[in-house]
Amino acid sequence: MNDVARRARVDFALALRRQWAGSLYPALVGQAGADPDRASVHAAPVYPWFAWLERSAQKMLWRAVEEAVDATDAAGAEDALSASAPGLELNPDLRLPAWYTDVDIHIQPGGIWRADRDALVYEAGAKLVMLGENDDYAFHTLFTDTAVPDRPYERIVDLGCGFGKSTRPFKRRWPDAEVIGVDLSAPVLRLAARRTAGLGIRYVQADAADTGLPAGSADLVTATMLVHELPPPVIAGVLAEAARVLAPGGLLRVLDFHPTGDVVRDLALVEHGDRNNEPYLPMLFGTDCLALCADAGLADARWVAFDERGAGRLETTRWPDRAEWHFPWAVLEARKPEDARA
Ligand SMILES: C[S@@+](CC[C@H](N)C(=O)[O-])C[C@H]1O[C@@H](n2cnc3c(N)ncnc32)[C@H](O)[C@@H]1O
Repeated sequence: MNDVARRARVDFALALRRQWAGSLYPALVGQAGADPDRASVHAAPVYPWFAWLERSAQKMLWRAVEEAVDATDAAGAEDALSASAPGLELNPDLRLPAWYTDVDIHIQPGGIWRADRDALVYEAGAKLVMLGENDDYAFHTLFTDTAVPDRPYERIVDLGCGFGKSTRPFKRRWPDAEVIGVDLSAPVLRLAARRTAGLGIRYVQADAADTGLPAGSADLVTATMLVHELPPPVIAGVLAEAARVLAPGGLLRVLDFHPTGDVVRDLALVEHGDRNNEPYLPMLFGTDCLALCADAGLADARWVAFDERGAGRLETTRWPDRAEWHFPWAVLEARKPEDARA
C-alpha cells in the first residue's frame, strides 16, 4: 500500500466519525423524542447504527493509523526513543496495575505501555480524537490559558501526562517554572522526552496516586484526560496525592468530562465508555469528586464547563448549545488552603 492509499484509509475512518457525530447523533436526538429517556433512545431506529458505527469507526481508525505509523518512522524510532534523555526518570521496577494493563484503552490494540511503537500509534490517533481538529496543541493550550490563573508558578506537576501534549503548554506559558510530567507508561514518556527535547521538562514514571514527589512542593497540579481512565478508588488516591504534593495556596486543575443534564448526550457519553473500551468512564459520573477533594483537604472544589471550540473555561456548568456530538469537557478546580499543613 502506498502513502496515498494509507492516508485515504485514515481520512475514510475520520469521515465516518464526522458523519457519526454530525448526522447520526442529531438524528438520534430527533428520534428519541421531546422528553427522552434511556428506553426511547434505545428504541430510536438510528440507535443500532449510532452504536455500531462509533465502535467500528474507532477500530478502523486504529488499524489505519497503525499502518500509517508502521510505514513511517516507527521502525527507526525504537532506538531513538529508547535512548535515555535529559529529564527522563524511568522506573524499571514499577509494577503497572492490572486495572491499567487489562484494558486496551480506547480500543488501541495492546494499549499504550508495551512498546515504543504503541506510543507513536497513540500519538497519531490522539490527533484524531476531536475529529481531526486536535493535531496541534490548541485544545491543551486553551486549557492552560483559560483554566489556570495568571500568576507565577515555581513547580507545575502534570499527572497522566502521556507523550507531553498536555505538559508542553505549561512550559510554554511559564518557562521559568519547573514542569514535571508523570505517567505510568515508559513508552509515552520516552516519546514525550523526544517531542519536548530541549525544553527542560522532567518526566517521571510513576503512578499519579504515588508520585514520589516531595510533599508541599508544587503550586499547581494538573491532569488532562486522566481521571475518566481511573477506577474510583484510584481517583480518590490521585486527588489525595495531588493534595499532598501541593503547597499551601497551591491549585488543582483537572480537565475531563462531566454530565450535562441532557439525557441523550449523557447517555451517549456513558455508553461511549463501553463502546470505546473505557470501562471506568461511567464510574466517574457516580463518583463525587468534590467530596473526594474535600476529604483530601482541598477547598472550594467545583466543576465548570469547558468549551473547547470557544472560550475554553466557562464560569458555569452550562455548555453552549451544539447539535452535533461533542464531549462535555469540564474543569475540576480546587485549592489547598493557605493555612493547610504542607
Ligand atoms: C488520555 S491520556 C492523556 C494524556 C495527556 N494528559 C494528554 O492530554 O494528551 C491518559 C494518560 O494517563 C496515563 N495514566 C493512566 N493512569 C495513570 C496513573 N494511575 N498514573 C499515571 N498515569 C496514568 C496513561 O498512561 C495515559 O498516558
